[in-house]
Amino acid sequence: MENPEHFDVIFANGTIIDGSGSPRFKADVGILGDRIAAVGDLSVAKTDKRVDASSKIVAPGFIDAHTHDDRLLFADPAMKAKSSQGVTTVIVGNCGVSLAPFSSPGRPKPPLDLIFGLDPVRFSSFGAFLDAVDHKPAATNAAFLVGHQTLRISEVSDLYQPAKHDEIVTMRAHVAEAMDAGAIGLSTGLFYPPARAASTDEVVALTEIAGAAGGLYATHLRDEGSKLLESVREALEIGLRSNAPVVLSHHKASGVANHGRVKESLPLIREARKTQKVALDVYPYIASSTVLLAERVADSAKVLITWSEPMPEVAGRDLAELAMEYQQTPEKMVDRLQPAGAIYFSMAEEDVQEVISFEDAMIGSDGIPHDEKPHPRLWGTFPRVLGHYVREVGLLSLEEAVRRMTSVPATVFGLRERGLISEGSFADIVIFDPETILDSASFDQPTQPAQGIDAVMNNGTFIWWAGKPTGECPGRALRRV
Ligand code: ZN
Ligand code: CU
Repeated sequence: MENPEHFDVIFANGTIIDGSGSPRFKADVGILGDRIAAVGDLSVAKTDKRVDASSKIVAPGFIDAHTHDDRLLFADPAMKAKSSQGVTTVIVGNCGVSLAPFSSPGRPKPPLDLIFGLDPVRFSSFGAFLDAVDHKPAATNAAFLVGHQTLRISEVSDLYQPAKHDEIVTMRAHVAEAMDAGAIGLSTGLFYPPARAASTDEVVALTEIAGAAGGLYATHLRDEGSKLLESVREALEIGLRSNAPVVLSHHKASGVANHGRVKESLPLIREARKTQKVALDVYPYIASSTVLLAERVADSAKVLITWSEPMPEVAGRDLAELAMEYQQTPEKMVDRLQPAGAIYFSMAEEDVQEVISFEDAMIGSDGIPHDEKPHPRLWGTFPRVLGHYVREVGLLSLEEAVRRMTSVPATVFGLRERGLISEGSFADIVIFDPETILDSASFDQPTQPAQGIDAVMNNGTFIWWAGKPTGECPGRALRRV
């Protein structure tokens, strides 16, 4: 691209970490429209707005590889939980849970209730959902997976059986419609009760539609505990048989008895990567979070309630304490709180570090945005990796961590011209202080914006500035091309 003399915005004197993994360098970055128009010495160029970035890092906006932000795009268009972290693109529709296609009113079964509210936001087709995002954009971009659990809950008459032939035919048609509309692939959450009865063949029957359209297969494995290895093998098989790249979601070994198992799962994944496309994402915490499930309670060291419909006042409380207070067994207390969500302290720190260090591991928050007292990963994931694991622990270089948050997910999810600071790329940019960036969200105070993020730009428009959302909504629905 030819260097123009005038830019809409110039980020001046910053240190560029360009997302490719290359060593940092000093340069100015010039923005014109929604693109990066120049990277170099722009000291004599004219501009409407010169942002002094000295002693700051200028990096591509982060791509949150695993989110449940489907409805948040409408509920909080500023996307504060994400824009405050430097995130400019979210991947939605994970764990088999997508907002579309789904038309029945009211509260759907768990775990769909993680993202569906009581408000009547319903889309009977995937295309209608993406059109709604076009018409009412959010601050961040989003790319979309269609969820197997969403399809199953609307189409399968007996959820405790494998889908019947005609139900598979209907679900395949929905996947085809979603792929046509621009979905980037299919997701599953085979661990969850509504999907457990699905056979490998059922999943292949749907994933091959996604694969044929150039889409991928993202999966919350059938078992992240004692059957972790079998579950990874099943996911790899589904990818191979469907001719679809595989994304292993929030990779972990769950449950005290299974700590250390990632030492076996990661080599298995490394081996598979020689012959098929396999990626994984991870969040930087030893606690997980989802709907309240008795079996998860049993293998966790501690459980915190994130929301409860019959007892909203207990959000944030420890389940064991509640059980004592109400003089009930933990099992009875779980029943009494339903429907509800929880945080489970179920992983080992060593395993978490092992997964974050794995080559090309992407960062995905897995935040659950509508919980009363959410897991802090919703607001803290990206600054926690950069502040805690990079600066304090020294697990990765800053360049490598930024690469896993930008160009790696851009490639895996097919987000063209994003994830790099380079001439011609979309102007998705975060300016942060490498000395102070850190998560502020804690289990007690989970909705605090991070420290050290100065400014965030998406498609050439600022979405976060001086600790606040700007109110601008330049986000786009990123369709598979
Ligand atoms: Zn999941
Ligand atoms: Cu998830």
